[in-house]
Amino acid sequence: MNGKQTAEGVFITFEGVEGAGKTTNIEFIANIIGEAGKQIVLTREPGGTQVGEAIRDILLSKELPEMHHDTELLLMFAARAEHLQRVIIPALKQGKWVLCDRFTDASYAYQGAGRGINLKRIEQLENWVQGDLRPDVTFLFDLDAETGLARARKRGETDRFEQQELDFFNKVREQYLNLAKQHPQRFRIIHAQHDLPTVQRQISQELDKILNARS
Ligand code: TMP
Repeated sequence: MNGKQTAEGVFITFEGVEGAGKTTNIEFIANIIGEAGKQIVLTREPGGTQVGEAIRDILLSKELPEMHHDTELLLMFAARAEHLQRVIIPALKQGKWVLCDRFTDASYAYQGAGRGINLKRIEQLENWVQGDLRPDVTFLFDLDAETGLARARKRGETDRFEQQELDFFNKVREQYLNLAKQHPQRFRIIHAQHDLPTVQRQISQELDKILNARS
């Protein structure tokens, strides 16, 4: 983990537009890291705690389409504060590898680029809630938004975010790619348009480097 905490653990996050194959590949990655003998905590945002999962239900509910964008952002960070204090920081302090399905980059992408909230606001919340803590590595599953959305919608019922228009997801994708450019040391871009074996070959190569650097 970055920052001035005393932990030995490793904090890995996973990002991407809906339908980019995050869920399948996180399982694949968790298996490889587990087989390398590391202790893993597999978690997600919004969610990962009892309070966080309750907040997630509010955030994803289609019954609440009128939620103000500021409320949405603050709820994301409220869930994140709970998650950090109760799960992520304690696990990292115990030397565990925390694998988190989405984190603050998603707030920059969805609430920042998607909803149009000033990125400086998000940065303020990030600094407040996280202090110096940032992920060590972020896998970005990059896919054009149209393909991703079609895949996600084919899976079945959509949530409050998945009901947004294509333009929203184009902005989300673009912002993720901007973040990857701003933080080239942290980001690993996975080209998710390829077939699964090709994607997983790329992931394995990246993981080898990460594991070797920490063995
Ligand atoms: P999931 O579908 O990957 O489980 O994520 C739930 C939704 O929450 C997804 O559409 C992205 C959204 N989200 C944000 O808008 N901001 C955030 O900070 C996070 C963590 C997720």
